[in-house]
Amino acid sequence: MEGDIFRGFFLKDKEHALLLKPFMREGLMPLPVTFISTISRTGIRNIAPWSCVMPVLRPLDLICAASAKKRDTLANIRETGQFVLNLVGADLQDKVIPTAKYSAPDVDEFVDAGLDEKPSALVKPPGIAGCYAWMECERVKGFEEDRYVLIVGKVLRLEVSDDVLKPDGSLDIEKARPLLITGSKKGMHFCTLQDLGVSEAFSAMFPDGKDPFEKKYTEGI
Ligand SMILES: Cc1cc2nc3c(=O)[nH]c(=O)nc-3n(C[C@H](O)[C@H](O)[C@H](O)COP(=O)(O)O)c2cc1C
Repeated sequence: MEGDIFRGFFLKDKEHALLLKPFMREGLMPLPVTFISTISRTGIRNIAPWSCVMPVLRPLDLICAASAKKRDTLANIRETGQFVLNLVGADLQDKVIPTAKYSAPDVDEFVDAGLDEKPSALVKPPGIAGCYAWMECERVKGFEEDRYVLIVGKVLRLEVSDDVLKPDGSLDIEKARPLLITGSKKGMHFCTLQDLGVSEAFSAMFPDGKDPFEKKYTEGI
């Protein structure tokens, strides 16, 4: 049975569960759409959509991005050590393909995609105006394999637009409308989130009811 998942696109097993090929995991696992902005050594501005990103545990200030080998983004991060991870709302969906298309390294992709910059405070690459949050990052480590590189960045500065925050400081997802994709055999399907209106304290998962990281969250910025 194990080998069957490599044969067909969709197969039914004995329990009537659908099996998908292993590379179809994004069909079931929505991914965020972010934009990474960088600049080259010579100052050319670059933007690329990036979905294979994740925070490295809680409460660390690290972010990990997976990159294919042939990316101007990767070359720029290697050369300058800096990038901005821009968090994208659904209203910027129409900028995904223009920034994903191949363009020569000497092309300014802000101009090409019709996006304005939002100056950064601590790094040289600018953020992108119209996004709802910006992580100014410094590369701290790269994990290189034959076909991919994992870039670990330290978030030096995290800024969020006031427009998408609730009075208690949490993200109003109905205002931010974070852009997500799921994959299918047709390609990328764009979607966003729905608020269930349910919250649980982090402390609820610890046997003593105390979150060991609580101070991190209650101390001022
Ligand atoms: C929604 C979306 C998400 C993407 N995520 C990634 C990713 O996580 N890693 C990656 O290497 N390429 C990813 N790509 C492909 C790059 O954005 C694309 O190859 C782009 O042209 C790279 O630009 P650059 O050469 O200027 O870096 C993604 C493309 C799209 C449309």
